[in-house]
Amino acid sequence: MTWTLKDSNDRKVVEGILDFSTVKAIYHLQSRGVIGHLCGVVKEGKESTIVVADDKEGNKIIVKIFKIEASQFQKMQKYIVGDKRFVGIKLGRRSLVFEWCRKEFSNLKRARKAGVNVPEPFGFYRNVLVMEYIGDGELAPKLKDAQLDDPLKVFCDIVSELRKLYQDAGLVHADLSEFNILMRDGAVVIHDMGQSVEKSHQLAGEFLVRDVRNLCRYFEKLGVSRDEGKVLDEIIKKIA
Ligand SMILES: Nc1ncnc2c1ncn2[C@@H]1O[C@H](COP(=O)(O)OP(=O)(O)OP(=O)(O)O)[C@@H](O)[C@H]1O
Ligand SMILES: [Mg+2]
Repeated sequence: MTWTLKDSNDRKVVEGILDFSTVKAIYHLQSRGVIGHLCGVVKEGKESTIVVADDKEGNKIIVKIFKIEASQFQKMQKYIVGDKRFVGIKLGRRSLVFEWCRKEFSNLKRARKAGVNVPEPFGFYRNVLVMEYIGDGELAPKLKDAQLDDPLKVFCDIVSELRKLYQDAGLVHADLSEFNILMRDGAVVIHDMGQSVEKSHQLAGEFLVRDVRNLCRYFEKLGVSRDEGKVLDEIIKKIA
């Protein structure tokens, strides 16, 4: 594997999380030309590790590595079983994490095709997902850390993205919060879509209500008060 990790701490973290099978998956993506070099760890989370890498042209990309042993196995099943795209899949821990990775890739692709502002997915293999880097020199801040000049506009932009996601992509995010929205040059980018489900999923309504509640609750603190029911209507109702 080729590295350009400048910080030896970063390199240790990456080496620490890369089991043999993940190393092979990264090799595979390097041999397919999806990943060039790994550059550094952005975030070591409970369920995934986010690594910045270069593609073959030297552009920054994001490599999201899903952890197999640490995955919240029971929780994941709830978001996969009942999605008609994943009928008949094996439900062992390993295969479920691979399906989860495929699911995030497929959700991002579908959202992107519908014109929703999400990172462009470039490829995946087993538990490794490769996507567009959101940011300039620095990574784009999360909504929770961003200084908003006009919170009402940002709120309306998010609702408009959720409407496209629901109406045109047929998906419900299902883990929406100020942590899973990035702010790039004043525009919102929704991400972290492994758990997103089709709107036909039996729990889609429940997940959408929760997403809207999280959103309204966060913006209430920023002085934007909106009725959750009306926001929900705005997302799901067809405009005549
Ligand atoms: N494509 C991207 N471009 C820029 N930053 C990203 C990208 N994907 C992830 N990140 C950064 O990494 C963090 C974690 O990513 P993500 O939410 O996908 O992983 P996670 O394992 O679900 O983490 P968490 O449990 O914190 O939600 C994000 O909050 C963001 O700061
Ligand atoms: Mg997240």
